[in-house]
Amino acid sequence: MNATHTGPATISVLGLGNLGQALAGTFLGKGHRTTVWNRSAGKADRLVAQGARVADSPSAAVADADLVVVAVLDYATVRELLLPAADGLAGRTVVNLTTGTPETARELAAWVTDQGAAYVDGAVYAVPQTVGTASAFVLYSGDEAAYRTYRPALDLLGDGVFVGAAPELSSVYDTAVLSGMYGLFAGFFQAVALAGTEGITAAALTPQLVRWLAGAAEALPGFADEIDRGEYATTTSTLEINQVGLRNILATTEAQGLPTDLLSPLLRLFDDQVNAGHASASLSRAVESLRGDR
Ligand SMILES: NC(=O)c1ccc[n+]([C@@H]2O[C@H](COP(=O)([O-])OP(=O)(O)OC[C@H]3O[C@@H](n4cnc5c(N)ncnc54)[C@H](OP(=O)(O)O)[C@@H]3O)[C@@H](O)[C@H]2O)c1
Repeated sequence: MNATHTGPATISVLGLGNLGQALAGTFLGKGHRTTVWNRSAGKADRLVAQGARVADSPSAAVADADLVVVAVLDYATVRELLLPAADGLAGRTVVNLTTGTPETARELAAWVTDQGAAYVDGAVYAVPQTVGTASAFVLYSGDEAAYRTYRPALDLLGDGVFVGAAPELSSVYDTAVLSGMYGLFAGFFQAVALAGTEGITAAALTPQLVRWLAGAAEALPGFADEIDRGEYATTTSTLEINQVGLRNILATTEAQGLPTDLLSPLLRLFDDQVNAGHASASLSRAVESLRGDR
């Protein structure tokens, strides 16, 4: 349907929270005719000064554009906003950048598609201040033709990566990527607390930590290759050496009077693998204990 669209997209942005304001501001800054709607008044003021049109309801916003971009609290809210606009959705494209779960993405995609609209789900890797900059990227999934049609506009927000036709895929990626991020934060908090027991400030520790973690991140593609091939021979870093290392860290943590809860589950994975006879395998083999198929 929207694959036939040509010319600059007319865009509506539903939700002018921190992210929605940055999205609308970026579209406006690049000359797109942009209509905005937000539940609470006042958040459109700066955008109006940039030339935004303000809709008085989500239905009016939907009616005013080919591309409807949504960024609100959660999927229940997206549904609540689109429901009264259902009659006007046919032939349009909804790009939902709200964070949710794969299940909610699947359900919303089915409903939007039933209304005759195209559905694209997206996961934004930017904070409002970095939307539209070189560091920003967005993962998209769902209706690929609609995504390609609106790609020139969507790419203004950040580098777009289409990850597949199943609408929930961007949410699956997002859940995994953010799991990695929270693991990193867990390590950071543990490191800062431990260093603090000897009077080392977070500011003194962090440059050394960042330097080491940047190198550790570079090891991940190699680990990924080992995991995907199921080949764990290594001359780099064995499970046994990491088991001993992490035991030392947890012992020191305990001796300093700190909890070990954040890292001790990781030692259980290493123990599990070593007990199963994989002491000399690559550290990456720990993932097999999470997958339960060692
Ligand atoms: N901020 C980021 O860096 C970032 C990055 C990636 C993804 N995201 C995702 O983007 C989405 C929005 O995030 P945000 O940072 O913009 O959040 P936010 O600043 O808290 O804004 C939330 C938005 O949702 C609206 N809203 C909440 N409940 C509503 C309801 N019942 N009916 C209508 N509108 C409602 C709010 O309207 P009011 O103004 O009326 O309260 C506001 O526009 C979230 O899913 C978030 O995870 C955010």
